[in-house]
Amino acid sequence: MPDRKTVLTCAQPTGQLHLGNYFGAIRNWANMIDDYECFFGIVDQHAITMPYEPAELRKSTYRMVAAYVACGLDPAKCHLFAQSHIIGHTELAWILGCLCPLGQLERMTQYKEKSQRENAGFVGSGLLYYPVLMAADILLYNADRVPVGEDQKQHLELCRDLAIKFNNTYSETFRVPSVDIPKTGARIRSLQDPERKMSKSDANQNGCVYLLDPPAVIRKKFKSAVTDSGREIVAREDKPGISNLLNIYSAATGRSIEKLEAENAGVSYGDFKSKVAEAVVDLLSPIQERFEAIVNDKDQLNGILAEGAKAAQKVAFKTLSKVHRKVGFVERPRI
Ligand code: TYM
Repeated sequence: MPDRKTVLTCAQPTGQLHLGNYFGAIRNWANMIDDYECFFGIVDQHAITMPYEPAELRKSTYRMVAAYVACGLDPAKCHLFAQSHIIGHTELAWILGCLCPLGQLERMTQYKEKSQRENAGFVGSGLLYYPVLMAADILLYNADRVPVGEDQKQHLELCRDLAIKFNNTYSETFRVPSVDIPKTGARIRSLQDPERKMSKSDANQNGCVYLLDPPAVIRKKFKSAVTDSGREIVAREDKPGISNLLNIYSAATGRSIEKLEAENAGVSYGDFKSKVAEAVVDLLSPIQERFEAIVNDKDQLNGILAEGAKAAQKVAFKTLSKVHRKVGFVERPRI
C-alpha cells in the first residue's frame, strides 16, 4: 500500500525474549502491522558488542525470527530482517559517527553500566559506538515511528540529535523520529528486584520470565516474586513489588490497574501472585505453540528473512545514495 507511514524497530538476538520485551515492545509492534509499513530488525551487529558465542548468535537469530512470528508479526504484512543482511546500517553509522561528539557517547547510561560492570572484562569500542549504529538503523528507513520500551529513551534522543545535526550540516534529509513509549508495559521490572528492569542479564534468573518458559517454571517464578511489607494490593511508589505485579497483570489481561486493585482488595499476596501467574500462562501458551510449530523449519525462516531483506535493502540503498550525495561522496561506479 503506498503512502503508509513507516515504523522501524529492532531487538537484539541475545538469548531469549522475556515479558519485558513482549509488553514493552513486540506486542505493540504487532498492533501496527495493519496500518503502517513496518520493518522489524533483528540486530545481530549490535549483539556482537558484548562477549558472545558465534554458534549461539546464529541459533538465537533464527529463534528470534520464530518468536517474532509467534508474537503476531505476520511476515505477509510486515518485513522481518537481519541487520547484517542489509548494506547501509554500518555505512550510515560511520557517517553519523563523524557528527557525534565523543563525550555524548561516553555519557550514555547503558554504556556506563555495561562497561563498568564488575565482570565487564574486555570493553570493545563497538559498545561505545552502539547508539550511533542504532541511530543509523532508524534513520536509514526514515521511520515516522520507533516504538520502544522506556530503557531505549536515551538512545532515541541521541538519534534525534544526530538527525537534526545532519539536517543542519548538510540540508534537510532525515525525518526526526518521535519517542514512542507505551503507557502500560513500558518498564516491566525484575520479579526478584523490582528496583531494576526485567532483563536477561538479571543475576537472579527467577526475576526474569521468558516467553518460552514452561507453565511450571512461570508459576515457580511468580511464587518466588518479592512483594512488599503490608497487605494491600495497590500500585504505589512505596510498593515496587506489588506495583510491578499489578502492571504485569494489567498488561496480560488488558484490564486497568484501578480495576485490578478493586477486584483484589483483601486477597493475600500469595493468592494474588498465583492469579498473575495464571494470567501470564494463559497469555503465553498460544505463543509457545506457534513458536514450536515454526522454529525448526529453517527453509521457512530463511524465506522470511530473504523477503524482509529484499524490502529493507530497497529502502536502505535509496537513503544511502542520498546521504552519499549530500556529504560529498562522488557517484558510485557500477561494478
Ligand atoms: P532490546 O533487544 O534490549 O529490547 C527489545 C525491546 O524490548 C524493550 N524492553 C523492555 N520493555 C519494557 N520492560 C523491560 N523490562 C524491557 N526490556 C527490554 C526495549 O525497550 C526494546 O524496545 N538497543 C535496542 C535494539 C535496537 C533498536 C534499534 C531498537 C537496535 N537498533 C533501532 C529500536 C530501533 C535493544 O537493545 O533492545
